[in-house]
Amino acid sequence: MVGDQTQSITRTVAILGFGTVGQAVTRILGARAGSELRITHIYNRDVERKRVEWAPSGVVWTDDIEAVLASQVDVVVELIGGLNPATEWIRRALQSGKSVVTANKQVIAQYGDELGKLIVGGNQYLRFEAAVAGGIPIIRALQDGLAGDNLFRVRGILNGTCNFVLTRMEANQVTFGDALKEAQSLGFAEADPTADVDGFDAQAKLAILSSVGLKCSVAVDTIPLRTIQNIEAVDFMYGARLGCTIRQVSWIERHSAMDGSLVASVQPALVPRLSALAMVQGSRNVVVIDGEFGGETAFSGFGAGGDPTAVAVVSDLEGILRGARPSVGLCGVKNETGTVRQDFESA
Ligand code: HSE
Repeated sequence: MVGDQTQSITRTVAILGFGTVGQAVTRILGARAGSELRITHIYNRDVERKRVEWAPSGVVWTDDIEAVLASQVDVVVELIGGLNPATEWIRRALQSGKSVVTANKQVIAQYGDELGKLIVGGNQYLRFEAAVAGGIPIIRALQDGLAGDNLFRVRGILNGTCNFVLTRMEANQVTFGDALKEAQSLGFAEADPTADVDGFDAQAKLAILSSVGLKCSVAVDTIPLRTIQNIEAVDFMYGARLGCTIRQVSWIERHSAMDGSLVASVQPALVPRLSALAMVQGSRNVVVIDGEFGGETAFSGFGAGGDPTAVAVVSDLEGILRGARPSVGLCGVKNETGTVRQDFESA
């Protein structure tokens, strides 16, 4: 019998950003007896106000990013968000031989291909499961589970804030403004909800799904957007007469296998009440993938929130520990470059 040749190797981890997700990652890892993932550094601005007594003993609390990047840490977990300085810090971490796990959709959507090229050797990784649809393991599903298909369409409810607002407007017949206020009071929506309600958040997620699932890189800002801000409660009544409801739908589809053109949009849309897109309630997400051979496959779950997003981060860390490498996808193989057709209505 061939014995188990797997060696147990502890990986050291630096957390950049000790907000909701960073804290949840630290808690989940701390609860794992005998984990081979050891948090050694926690970086945050004004780190003293973030210090907690339940973090692993011996962890270095720092607001000096240079010290973290110069350290011997194996994996940098980037949870600070935004393009700057996150892109540069991820780039430098990769250039110094570290692996990176990130929840940063804007960085991966805009610079994922470039950053993926910095990976050298079999022991280095750039993983980003948490960047799209929170706790739904959609990146892994596209890179591995559906890698045998020829995928041609991705549709989804990719923004929990919009879905919460729209489902509340429908259920309670309230205005957009009132539903948004409720979302903010419950912590689902940001104080400035523009990125969510105007579609920029879902746009970046859709670009990543295109790259990973359709193997087609698109410039993020070429995906047309329409805001949900002008949806009114009465629109749901008209929709119901057609057997439909209204959702912020993200959609990208190969238009032609010949010229790499795509049809894409993020916009409020009528969807049949019994469809997978209509069924998802509140802040949940759903991603529906269509393949030439396997047909339609749907994935749903919590698309945001500290714990679900942290699960995606920890799963990426576990994958690195196992040496699991995706068989296809962004940061793995060369993508073709796609062009989004600008005939918005056709999507
Ligand atoms: N603001 C996002 C949403 C959170 O509402 O879905 C995670 O990307």
